[in-house]
Amino acid sequence: MLNIGVLASGRGSNFQAIIDNIGTGYIKAKIVVLISDNANAYALERAKNHGIETLVLKPKDFPDKDSYYSRIAKELKSRDAGLVVMAGFMRVAGSALIREFPNKIINIHPALLPSFPGLHGQKQAVDYGVKISGCTVHFVDEGVDTGPVIIQAAVPVYDNDTEESLSERILKQEHKIFPFAIKLFSEGRLSVHGRKVIINSEREGAAIINPPLV
Ligand code: GAR
Repeated sequence: MLNIGVLASGRGSNFQAIIDNIGTGYIKAKIVVLISDNANAYALERAKNHGIETLVLKPKDFPDKDSYYSRIAKELKSRDAGLVVMAGFMRVAGSALIREFPNKIINIHPALLPSFPGLHGQKQAVDYGVKISGCTVHFVDEGVDTGPVIIQAAVPVYDNDTEESLSERILKQEHKIFPFAIKLFSEGRLSVHGRKVIINSEREGAAIINPPLV
């Protein structure tokens, strides 16, 4: 069974969605550790409520970015993680982590990449005046939200939307596509060809996938 290590900085609603989808058996995997860069993250409470080991590692306690991400990689390796999930981890992953988990780190971003990478993707969409936004699950590479796209969901942007109202609409979709992407990964159904991620729907006679778009 796949061991998953989760990185989260805050509220952890995506983390909770993963926990719940493992609980129902939709995803067959085990979360072996939650690592947070923020001792006050509510995600830590969620982990404790579900008996998941937690670890707080703050960048300021390390001499540089490389040693910080080397330590995170070491903690994940020692727990035999086969997938690293960035669930609202508000930092750009360092190369010391990425090279240890090639195409094994995934992130959720609250915009339709390559539009609006970085922080506050929902505010960027409202300010820009786009009519459609959404969320993206992607593999993590060395850039900021530039890795190969696994799955996306689109939502409308209304004239009276605020950052908050759009965030809420996008979050509902995040809670669907993130567990879906993790399920696909755990079943070995994702293959990366350059920038493209192919979803294999034939394996063991699996049904054709209907991505949960709005
Ligand atoms: C989510 O909207 C996620 O997409 C976003 O932070 C929120 C975390 O919410 N991530 C980023 O912006 C990463 N650049 P959560 O803690 O409730 O899952």
